[in-house]
Amino acid sequence: MPMTIGVPREVHPGERRVAATPDSVKELLKLGYQVAVETGAGQEASFSDDDYRAAGAAIVDAASLWASVDVVVKVRPPQVHPSLGVEEAALLKKHATLIGFVWPAQQMPMLERLAQRGATVLAMDCVPRISRAQKLDALSSMANMAGYRAVIEAAHAFGRPFAGQITAAGKIPPARVLVIGAGVAGLAAISAARSLGAVVRAFDTRPVVRQQIESLGAEFLTVEIEEDGSGSGGYAKEMSPAFIEAEMRLFAEQAREVDIIITTALIPGKPAPKLLEAGTVGLMRSGSVVVDLAAEQGGNCVLTVPGESVRRDGVTIIGYTDLPSRMAAQSSQLYATNIRHLLTELTPGKDGQLVVNMDDEMIRGATVQHQGAVTWPPPPLTVAIPQQQAPAAAPVEAVAAPPRNRTGVTLAALALAAIALLALGAVAPPAFMAHFTVFVLAIFVGYQVVWNVTAALHTPLMSVTNAISGIIVVGALVQLGKPSLLTAVIAGCAVLVATINIAGGFLVTQRMLKMFQRD
Ligand code: NAI
Repeated sequence: MPMTIGVPREVHPGERRVAATPDSVKELLKLGYQVAVETGAGQEASFSDDDYRAAGAAIVDAASLWASVDVVVKVRPPQVHPSLGVEEAALLKKHATLIGFVWPAQQMPMLERLAQRGATVLAMDCVPRISRAQKLDALSSMANMAGYRAVIEAAHAFGRPFAGQITAAGKIPPARVLVIGAGVAGLAAISAARSLGAVVRAFDTRPVVRQQIESLGAEFLTVEIEEDGSGSGGYAKEMSPAFIEAEMRLFAEQAREVDIIITTALIPGKPAPKLLEAGTVGLMRSGSVVVDLAAEQGGNCVLTVPGESVRRDGVTIIGYTDLPSRMAAQSSQLYATNIRHLLTELTPGKDGQLVVNMDDEMIRGATVQHQGAVTWPPPPLTVAIPQQQAPAAAPVEAVAAPPRNRTGVTLAALALAAIALLALGAVAPPAFMAHFTVFVLAIFVGYQVVWNVTAALHTPLMSVTNAISGIIVVGALVQLGKPSLLTAVIAGCAVLVATINIAGGFLVTQRMLKMFQRD
């Protein structure tokens, strides 16, 4: 009997996102599940009940959804249901699974209530940030939306266009934007502000982000103190008081020049560092805007009021905590895709049966409660966490240098090959030996060329192998006409294999190019 996935309507005030879209429902059905969606669940994100019905979901009311489904997918953590008057945790079917943002550190009492129901809970906010898990990384997809929306909110509150213009009626200077913190949200904000035509500067405590900031066309600001803010897992660590003082001085200098400040500075598990004092905001020109993306964690600006937009001395300070929800259709689509990828990992048999494999580090990290037992926090990861800011490709020599203990084996293999060649030369005709020597050398050179190429160059390499395959096809076509059956068969095989290589090469290149195309 396949399990049923339930998609309730979010009850948190102002929450417009939904955990599944009609497109993701189709994918969940392909995994063997049945899907039930609460009436109006996608309404605020522009997905109607009819859209879900057409995708294959059943539309049900809240009470029957919570009472009947085996897996609930949500955006916000469970809370008291306004119309049913009961906490959502108490509505969950016994031994059912809940997937969504959970924030276990703040939600322990709720997790304990879920434990009494023998529930399994997977937190999207606890998915480890390892390469494999990038497609489930809802924190990144939501931060990306928040960064973009922060710029749009700033542009809405700012009384001028972002791009500079010279018109008959006068000159409009470009808006100057300062982005503090260049993680996922900060980089999205830099990119959005740049594409609107603003002049952008950015600051971060992790020097590794310099290259990313500059590649987006922004200026990387520095302070005179040298201190690396890189902590574990690519996240930031708390800085020394001297460093914070130096960066606050920098922001005070910048405040006189910039029109918009977007702050995104966060340290996992800690309140947001206070980086903009009232005095600094006071230095900004009237009409300027501050958008504080750290508002939910206490804010980077002392004047921020979480969830609100306030005006102080002519400066608008925006502390909205629902920026991804303000772009509900796109945020829901990204979040639903993250959830769908997690469910794909949880359904190895594609048979509508959810399997929580606690030996899989990615699943283990996300599982904060398993069959009624709280399993958060997870043990430390044993796999290396990649930095988003990966260093440049490893130098070629590093790949080419064979380990010392393999040298002996290689020499022995070469000696054996030389003996075999001499033995063959003693019996084979001279014409064969000439061709055979060229063949062996071609294999050797080809092997060295292909295996010593660094991964970053694989796409250009593909075009070279396509060219070589083309030569093989021509050579084999010439041989095809020969009377010998063996020659014809070998030539036929060569044409087939080389053609597969050429067609495959074009397909892969096409897919890679599509990744860089803007629609
Ligand atoms: P975040 O939201 O925790 O922090 C935002 C930014 O604030 C960070 O860049 C941090 O360095 C900066 N910051 C902290 N204190 C500051 C201060 N006092 N002054 C100025 N800036 C300050 O970070 P987010 O966006 O969640 O990601 C951080 C990093 O995590 C990424 O850059 C990346 O290295 C890693 N990551 C890895 C992923 C993966 O491999 N799957 C996915 C996403 C992120």
